[in-house]
Amino acid sequence: MISQRVSQMKKSAIHEMTRLSKQYEDVAFLSWAKPTSGTPDHIREGAISAIQKGVTDGYSPTDGIPELREEIAKKLRRDNNIQADPSEVMVSVGAIEGLADAVMAVIDPGDEVILPTPTYSTHIRQVLLASGKPVTIPLIEEKGFAWDMDRVKDSITPKTKAIMYCSPSNPTGTVFPEQELRQIADIALKNNLMIITDEAYEYFVFDDHKHFSIGSIPELKKNCISTFTFTKTYAMTGWRIGYVHADQEVIQHIRKAHIPFAICAPVVSQYAALAALQGSQKCVQDFYDHYLRTRNLMCDRLDQLDSVFEYQKPGGSYLMFPKVLVEEGKDSLAFCKKLLTEIQVSATPGIAFGPTGESHIRLSFCVEEDMINKAFDRMERLF
Ligand SMILES: Cc1ncc(COP(=O)(O)O)c(C=O)c1O
Repeated sequence: MISQRVSQMKKSAIHEMTRLSKQYEDVAFLSWAKPTSGTPDHIREGAISAIQKGVTDGYSPTDGIPELREEIAKKLRRDNNIQADPSEVMVSVGAIEGLADAVMAVIDPGDEVILPTPTYSTHIRQVLLASGKPVTIPLIEEKGFAWDMDRVKDSITPKTKAIMYCSPSNPTGTVFPEQELRQIADIALKNNLMIITDEAYEYFVFDDHKHFSIGSIPELKKNCISTFTFTKTYAMTGWRIGYVHADQEVIQHIRKAHIPFAICAPVVSQYAALAALQGSQKCVQDFYDHYLRTRNLMCDRLDQLDSVFEYQKPGGSYLMFPKVLVEEGKDSLAFCKKLLTEIQVSATPGIAFGPTGESHIRLSFCVEEDMINKAFDRMERLF
């Protein structure tokens, strides 16, 4: 009864941990990948005002309301150096639906998609859902989770169709540098591959790291689909609103995949997104300042536990991916269950993020400082 495509997907270790966490009280959560702050008031008010004007009751154009696509194109030109026209923008139900549409538009059954590992597990599932074959290429952890270009080149076969990655990365917090991404772009152009990006954490980049949008490379215009979201930038997780940019020749096909999944993005959320782009950007700076503080705190606390964890300092996002040095960390799901049952600390097992995720845990610092201190006080007592 159930399709091959769906039955091959394993139960998510992330959801298993969420389910188990509900059985305990006073859990110190470091497993959330969603902003814990609320959506800023001026964005909520944009939505309320649209509801009151009665403009949110019907479908919008499939691609999104024209004013929003205008603002998005402006933002892409200003912040991403992508010379975008509104006609190349499609508003989606979060970045996730835009990514799923992109994968459906590009991948035929049996096509291979190169993904770094560890990576955001949803990307792997999206490839499987399109009956594609994920080909995972281990990142070089000791070099700060850098791409191994030789392995990328060696993995290309006549069936390779795309390269899909997120930067800044979930789960590692790595910001792939421009020079690495230019090499990825060269490989894609030489082999006529599509690059599908997920730039959800684009505004949360620390120290001297820089976010680079590969879609800004003019030669890549027809070989790149870039996705973005309001979820992280403006703490709008539940509004389900994001967008895709691609050349007109490509986006018209992505649109064909978008309609059967969504018809259009939620219209009330499109007005909220418009308010987000047109209003003050101080909230983004405030989130940034908070994540920088909590990242530094988490690194300090990890330094105190250096016989248990070894980590690469995250250059971006609000996530990090320490390796567990103690024996019981070899099975990351068992290790996370131990943290939860013995000291009520919730972390995400690294195995959820691809084959080289094992022996790691993902920790999230988009929480209050108290939560980080509580979790680390408990871990210090345990180890
Ligand atoms: C890398 C990455 N992409 C996409 C998403 C989800 O984005 P959206 O809420 O816009 O669908 C997440 C959420 O955790 C993420 O970490």
